[in-house]
Amino acid sequence: MVNLIKILKTIFPLIQLYPWGILAIVILGILASLAEGIGISLLIPFLQNLQSGNSLVINNPIIQNIDQYLINFQPQQRVLLLTSSILVAILIKAVLSYIYTALCSWLQNSTLHRLRTAVYKQLIAVSQSFWDTNKSGELLNLITQETYYSSQALSFLIWVIINLSMIGIFGLLLLLISWRLTLLVALGFLLVSVLIRTLTSKTQVLGRKYQQANIYLSNLTLETFTGIKTIRAFGKESYEEQRYYQASKKSRDSGINSAMQSVMIEPVSEGLSVAILMCVMLIAFYTQVTLPVLITFIFMLYRLQPQVQKLNSNLTQVIALSNYVKSVFLLLEREDKPYVISGNVNFHDLRKGITFDAVNFLYPSQNKPALENISLFIPKGKTTALVGYSGAGKSTIINLIFRLYDVTSGEIYIDNYLIKELDLATWRSNMALVSQDVHIFSSTVRENIAYGRPDATETEIVAAAKQAYAHEFICELAQGYDTFVGDRGIKLSGGQRQRISIARAILCNPEILILDEATNALDNISEKLIQDAINLLSQNRTVIVIAHRLSTIKDADQIIVLKQGKVEEQGSFSDLMEKQAVFHKLYQLDYQKTQN
Ligand SMILES: Nc1ncnc2c1ncn2[C@@H]1O[C@H](COP(=O)(O)OP(=O)(O)O)[C@@H](O)[C@H]1O
Ligand SMILES: [Mg+2]
Repeated sequence: MVNLIKILKTIFPLIQLYPWGILAIVILGILASLAEGIGISLLIPFLQNLQSGNSLVINNPIIQNIDQYLINFQPQQRVLLLTSSILVAILIKAVLSYIYTALCSWLQNSTLHRLRTAVYKQLIAVSQSFWDTNKSGELLNLITQETYYSSQALSFLIWVIINLSMIGIFGLLLLLISWRLTLLVALGFLLVSVLIRTLTSKTQVLGRKYQQANIYLSNLTLETFTGIKTIRAFGKESYEEQRYYQASKKSRDSGINSAMQSVMIEPVSEGLSVAILMCVMLIAFYTQVTLPVLITFIFMLYRLQPQVQKLNSNLTQVIALSNYVKSVFLLLEREDKPYVISGNVNFHDLRKGITFDAVNFLYPSQNKPALENISLFIPKGKTTALVGYSGAGKSTIINLIFRLYDVTSGEIYIDNYLIKELDLATWRSNMALVSQDVHIFSSTVRENIAYGRPDATETEIVAAAKQAYAHEFICELAQGYDTFVGDRGIKLSGGQRQRISIARAILCNPEILILDEATNALDNISEKLIQDAINLLSQNRTVIVIAHRLSTIKDADQIIVLKQGKVEEQGSFSDLMEKQAVFHKLYQLDYQKTQN
C-alpha cells in the first residue's frame, strides 16, 4: 500500500500535464459504466415479465421504482419498452467508451510528445559537463524509449481509474440487487487480488532489470555505430557480435521474466473467478434467490470479472513502468543539473580584448585541474597562438571562451564585462570555430555552409565557398551545392569537410575566429589550401589559433605556450626562439618531424 502511494507520487507529474483530459476520460468512463449497469439491471423486470407476464414486487429499491412505473403498461408494451431501453443504454455505453478510448490514445500520444520535447529541450539546455558525465546511449534510450514507456504508464493509470469506477458502479448495483451475494463476491475478489499481488510482487524489480538491460543495449549499439571502423580495423567483429548477443539475450530474458509475471494474472484470476461463480450459484440455491435476479446477477458479474482482472494487470503495468517515469522526471529536474546561465548584456563588438584573470578550471569528471592559474590577454584584431603538447589545456581555453563551461575560480573578462554578464547568444554569434572535428549535418552542401546563417543568399554562399577553396570540389559533386552529404549522403574527405566548415565560418563573418587544430587531419596539399583560406579569413580579425604545425604560426602577434594547464612562456615567435626554452624545444621537435 505504501508502495502504491510512492508509485502514485512518481506518476503524479505526468497527471499534471493534462489534468482536464484525464478528468474528462474518468467522467466519461463513469457515465459509460452507469449506462451499461442500468442496461443490465433492466434485465430483471424483463425476465420477470417473461416468467409471469406480471410484474412481481421484489424487495429491491431500484427494481421497485421501475416496476411501479411499468405497471401502467400492457405486458406487450412493457417488453418492447424494456428491450429498447436496454438497447439504448448499451448504445450510450458504446458511444461513450469509444470517445474515452479515443481520448485516451490522444492523451498518450500528446503526453509522449510533451515528454520527448521537454527532454530534448533539457538536453540542449544543460551545460556541456552534463554530456561529459552521461553516456549518450543512455540519453538516447531515455529520449526514445523511456518517454514512450512513461506515456504508456499514464494510459495504464487511466485504465486503472476506469476499471475502478466500473467496479465501483457495478458493485453498487450488485449490492442493490442482492447484498448478500455481493458481499460474498467482493470477499472472493479481494482474496484473488491479494493472491495476485503476492504473485506479482517482484514486478517492479523485474521491470527495473529490464530497463537496465535496455539501457546497456542502447549504449552498446551506439558505440558500434560510432566505432564501426575501429571494430573492423582490429578484427573485433565477432567479439562485438558476441557482446551484443549477450546483451540482447539479457534484455530478452528480463523482458520475458517481467512479462511472465503479468501474464500469470489472467489465468489465475480467471480460474478463481469461476470458483467464485460456483459459490454464488450454490448460495443462491440455498437462499432461494429468484431466477431473474440470479441470472442478472451472474450476467453482471460476468461483465465485471474481466474488469477486476484488467485492474490487476493494468496496475501491475503501472508499477512496472513507473521506473521509466521516474528516470524521465529525474532528467527533467532542473535543480541538480549544471547550466550555463546567460547574462543580459548584449554583445556588439570587441573593443579591447579577452582577459583571463587567475583562471582555474576542473572538468567535473576529472580530479586534476585542466587549467591552473591562467592569466592572459587576447588583444582585439591580433592573432594569438596557443601551443603546447596535447592535453596541455589549449582546447579547454577555447571551451571557456565559448562558455561551454564556467570557470571553477578566477574570472574571464570580455573588454570590461565579466563573460557571465554577456548574453550567451549574442556573444557566441560573434565567434566562429573551425576545429579538427567538423560536424557535417545530414543535408545539402548549401545548408551545411549556411548553418550559421540560414538567411544567406546564394551569392554569399558561393563567395564563402570560393574563399574557402571549396567551390571547385563542390561543383564537381553530382548535384553541386544540392548534393546530400553527411550521414545519409555522400562522404566527404577530411580536407573537404574542413573546407566546408571554413566556408561556414566565413559566411558568419565572425569578429573572433577560433581555429583549433583546423588543419590537423589533412595531407600537405589540403593543408596548404586551407592555410591560404585561413590566412585570408584572419585578416583584420581577432584570431585565436591552435596549430600542431608550428611553422604556420610564425606570424602570430603573440604565442602562449601551455604546459600541463599552466602558462609556461609568452611572447612573439622571435622572442621565444631567442629564449631557447620550451617553445624552442617544441619547434625543434616539430621541425624534425616535418623533415622526416
Ligand atoms: N570534456 C572533458 N571532460 C573531462 N576532461 C577533459 C575534457 N576535455 C579535456 N579534458 C582533459 O583536460 C585536459 C586538457 O585537455 P585539452 O584542453 O583538450 O588539451 P589540448 O587541447 O591542449 O590537447 C586533458 O587532461 C584532458 O584529458
Ligand atoms: Mg585540443
